[in-house]
Amino acid sequence: MSKLCVNIDHVATLRQARMTIEPDPIFAAAEAIMGGADGITLHIREDRRHMQDSDLFRLRKSIQVPLNLELAATPEMLKLAIKALPDMVMVVPEGRNEITTEGGLDILGDTDRLHEFVQKLAAQQLPVSAFIDADSSQIEAANKCGFDVCEIHTGPYAEAVLENNFSLDHPNVVTEREHVRTAVAHVLRLGMKCNAGHGLTHVNVRGIASIPGISELHIGHSIVSKSIFIGMRQSVAQMKRTIEEASP
Ligand code: PXP
Repeated sequence: MSKLCVNIDHVATLRQARMTIEPDPIFAAAEAIMGGADGITLHIREDRRHMQDSDLFRLRKSIQVPLNLELAATPEMLKLAIKALPDMVMVVPEGRNEITTEGGLDILGDTDRLHEFVQKLAAQQLPVSAFIDADSSQIEAANKCGFDVCEIHTGPYAEAVLENNFSLDHPNVVTEREHVRTAVAHVLRLGMKCNAGHGLTHVNVRGIASIPGISELHIGHSIVSKSIFIGMRQSVAQMKRTIEEASP
């Protein structure tokens, strides 16, 4: 069964809407862990629109499951990662005007810079993950760059589910799921670890959780959204149950 890493950025999004102290992402992480989260993820964005550096250091001190730090490959973020020493660094592309991460990294188009970035993290024994589209040339490039993990972008699959009345059997959904499945197998063949995420929900997660070989699913928005109504602990527990039921 794939592990579940819960991204709690949107708890901080709500806090930052008022620039105040609640809701506190540290409490959200504790509740998520009590609901069964196997890891906690936060994204420190260049504009600090949700998580703040202080959240990272407080989480580092307070949680006892792996902490994943998502960031863009910039000198500022490199320094922050080396200072905080998370359990895994997840490199994502970052556009200033995007609402959320919009696509995978273009490793092929930025090989030298990313290779150097990964090497600097590797020197601190930090495992590094590349968030990439289900694309064989990007997977090959991630391997050459020295990434330990590929996280396959499940956004296109999630979009296909939304566009087709939540049917997991619609041919377009099946095609997108197949792209993810093929990509996972490719990542594993090259000896890297494979994770997946983005846009996964309590409804569509079954199609991805049933793919063999995915170590971790990284899920945020849907879990935080449902937590407003049923609580974080229950929202995570429900997601875990669905993953378990669907697992190969
Ligand atoms: N994985 C990566 C690399 C992401 O950037 C995000 C969004 O922050 C997620 C997973 C989680 O996506 P979602 O919030 O849509 O579940």
